[in-house]
Amino acid sequence: MPYNPNLKPKIENRKFPVGYVVGGSLKENLRVRLTISPQEVQEGAFVVVQSGDWQFYGLVTDLMLGSTDPRFADEQSELRLPGELAALLHGQTLYTTLEVLPALMQEVGPDPEGPNFARLYTEWRQSHPKDPPLIPIKTIPSHHAPVRLAHAGDIAAIFGDPTDPDNFVLGYTREQGYPVCINLKKFVQRSSGVFGATGTGKSFLTRILLAGMIKYNQASVLVFDMHNEYGLDDTASDTNQRVIGLRTIFPGQVRVVALGRTASIRGQSPDFTLEVGESEIAPEDIEMLTRELNLKETTPTTLAALVHTFGRAQWFSEFKKMKQGAVIEDEEGKKIPAPDSVEAWARQAGVNEAAAAGLHGKLNRLFDAPYIVSKTVGDSLGEIIRTLESGRHVVLSFGDYESDLDYLLISNLLTRKIREKWEEHTNQYRSHPEKTSEPRPLVIVVEEAHKLLNHEMAQQTAFSTIAREMRKYYVTLLIIDQRPSQIYDEVLSQLGTRISGWLGDDSDIQAVLSGLAGRDALRGMLARLQPKEEVLLLGWGVPMPIPVRSRRYDEKFVQEVRGRSLGKQSEADILKEIGF
Ligand SMILES: Nc1ncnc2c1ncn2[C@@H]1O[C@H](COP(=O)(O)OP(=O)(O)OP(=O)(O)O)[C@@H](O)[C@H]1O
Ligand SMILES: [Mg+2]
Repeated sequence: MPYNPNLKPKIENRKFPVGYVVGGSLKENLRVRLTISPQEVQEGAFVVVQSGDWQFYGLVTDLMLGSTDPRFADEQSELRLPGELAALLHGQTLYTTLEVLPALMQEVGPDPEGPNFARLYTEWRQSHPKDPPLIPIKTIPSHHAPVRLAHAGDIAAIFGDPTDPDNFVLGYTREQGYPVCINLKKFVQRSSGVFGATGTGKSFLTRILLAGMIKYNQASVLVFDMHNEYGLDDTASDTNQRVIGLRTIFPGQVRVVALGRTASIRGQSPDFTLEVGESEIAPEDIEMLTRELNLKETTPTTLAALVHTFGRAQWFSEFKKMKQGAVIEDEEGKKIPAPDSVEAWARQAGVNEAAAAGLHGKLNRLFDAPYIVSKTVGDSLGEIIRTLESGRHVVLSFGDYESDLDYLLISNLLTRKIREKWEEHTNQYRSHPEKTSEPRPLVIVVEEAHKLLNHEMAQQTAFSTIAREMRKYYVTLLIIDQRPSQIYDEVLSQLGTRISGWLGDDSDIQAVLSGLAGRDALRGMLARLQPKEEVLLLGWGVPMPIPVRSRRYDEKFVQEVRGRSLGKQSEADILKEIGF
């Protein structure tokens, strides 16, 4: 089994046990007496316990020093003892206990090292023609069952064989450097999350995941790229190294769309630009901005009246045209609202004038947004949807529009449109499978997800519906966030796969682990990850939790997913090659 040659294994692939079970229970963790030096095993190490015909797989969650006689622990008695006795002291009177969180078990048949193996194995095979499945832990190993460190074969048996195209290597075990895969087929079936404090490597890991998903080609990907990180080549802020964009790796498959009429993003040209017609803006898109624009509770009433007067397609442009506070004099010289004023409309429509004027004032930011136009050139929204339906991928770069307002409005609006489209397609497919093609699975990627999925907004945005029920309509989310505790619990609990880097805040750690077994044991592990490039894989999408060293996103990775080297080719050369 291949393992990462860059990470020199500290311990050889040991067949030998590192300890034996001395206690524990299903509810508590297992206790294992360590028979090697404690420095050879670390928290998070993956261990295998052999007991009878069964193998148990677990994680080391703690290491404790113990002694049968506290006097020997408290004093350096070995200094007074002759050599042999001193050696005996360590390991017998003084020892180390591992705490092991058991996660999975599997019936594997008789011990190959045991007596009469050939006969016993043949008999066992007759009653078990197929390899028994891995199952969640339901019992415990016996006293003194030997414990060994997992080898590459164990990791592959549980997390998947790296040579299977459904499996994608996301990282390596921390101690031995064995590849750990995630099953992409499973991964895209449910929404998932990448978490970690700033600088832990979320964006880099997401790029790796996206490259895997694009290569795997079973789902289209739409990235809301708030900070212009994913599509185009970039320079890492800390290392000044070139960070290759997804379009450079997969030219032709990934289209970079820029928000607003712009010729370039950091000097590189997008494939096309996105403008939103005024008629596309719905009242719900505005209500979603309540916090951002500090809207009053009268807003829904005013919006409903606007839609009633002008219709869903016209309300925004008509409201935009109105003048706030404009007055004329009537026949008697008295000042009255001008006919084209917000107040005149409010009076006619029977809504509070001050409320209407207040809303108009707050919407000025949208009225002035250059990417909202009265008439769009072409149908860029439709083009995005068609690109995704055709199996290609879209990175929507926000360019200079980096404010939360732009991000919230556009990502929600687009997601609402996509949701309608995918729902319609799925319903057609369900009623006429012979006439309609199956919808293409879609993964929507959102950075800074708590801005869209926080406790207040989750009910209003299109995203929470997707997290909760769109799996049935072939759409799932991949959310990326530094502050998982700010995300609505109901959304968090729906996340299938959770990938988390180091988190310092207790409430964030708790949020990532919510609803998972073994939370207490995993909490410490999350808090003690390396500050960078180490993550804990968790949740439904992985057979059991495991800490891994992230795969590196570099030229070598790009070469591996592309199947050939980029060499000195620039993005421009590649685009020319495919006829841009
Ligand atoms: N898998 C990786 N391969 C190569 N470099 C990495 C990897 N992960 C992290 N790094 C390094 O760590 C730095 C920070 O990573 P990244 O930008 O992904 O952090 P982040 O978690 O997205 O932070 P923020 O929350 O501030 O956006 C990168 O600039 C890069 O140098
Ligand atoms: Mg980032």
